[in-house]
Amino acid sequence: MHKELKQLADEIQELRRKRNAVILAHNYQRDEIQEIADYCGDSLELSRLAAESAADVIAFCGVHFMAESAAILSPDKTVLLPNGDAGCPMADMITAEGLRAKKKELNGTPIVCYVNSSADVKAESDICCTSANVVSVVNSLPGDSVYMVPDMNLAKFAAKKTDKKVDWWKGFCPTHQLVTPSEVRGMQEKHPGAPLVVHPECREDVLALADEVRSTSGIYRFAEETNAKTIIVGTELGILYRLRKQNPDKEFILLSPNLVCPNMKITTLEDLRDALRDMKHVIRVEEPVLSGARTALERMLAVPRDN
Ligand code: 13P
Ligand code: SF4
Repeated sequence: MHKELKQLADEIQELRRKRNAVILAHNYQRDEIQEIADYCGDSLELSRLAAESAADVIAFCGVHFMAESAAILSPDKTVLLPNGDAGCPMADMITAEGLRAKKKELNGTPIVCYVNSSADVKAESDICCTSANVVSVVNSLPGDSVYMVPDMNLAKFAAKKTDKKVDWWKGFCPTHQLVTPSEVRGMQEKHPGAPLVVHPECREDVLALADEVRSTSGIYRFAEETNAKTIIVGTELGILYRLRKQNPDKEFILLSPNLVCPNMKITTLEDLRDALRDMKHVIRVEEPVLSGARTALERMLAVPRDN
């Protein structure tokens, strides 16, 4: 390891002990953040870890809604977002006010809220979901229809896997939305026979060309299960670090060079060190939003994974 990185890593280890902190990192984080984290995972796994952790402090290397979910599920712990600017543009595509207005038209149709959303929006929803459990969550609800927020691509994916009528808010992930079918066909021609595994935040016409649609952790499982030696991966760049480390005999090709989420890349080791040293940026959710959002998240945690 580079000398400065090694020194930073040592400082973080020391602070982690001093603060009795656990470091959680999403699968899209920079390589060096994934390397130093206690746990890496998808949104669902990290929510569970946050809820179950015995640490006093959770340093959440991800984006704001993830740290917020941790703060909702562990209100007695101090949750830190090491870089306070790490947001999610998809989460910002809906407000609680906008959802309240929509609900007036929905006559009690249950609202399924992707965790990529603010606590205020979760509090207005019946249940949360992630890309790892969306179909089971939709099917767990009473009645024959659901309304999904904020990701239209995840909603369209779920609609094809359930008998329920699914309608949706028209949000999307600006990073995954950039991938086009012609880009996919180009990669498939370049690597004939290589399976394509994509995240359900990709466009519907991209999902139609994929062999598998999985959450980020589902993509790790697929990589281990498949006999293929070359795999095309349609999600954010950060996933490649552990895919390559855990499967040295396999080749992983990123579907598009545009698959880089600037918000997931903003957190550095310096940010993590400063956060643990100065106890910043503390993420807190106040009542009544806290209780409403917690109910939606806890209902989700009671549902099994799809992938
Ligand atoms: P996962 O829950 O699959 O890890 O995805 C989170 C995310 O932000 C994808 O853009
Ligand atoms: Fe949000 Fe997309 Fe980045 Fe995930 S990849 S954090 S959905 S902008």
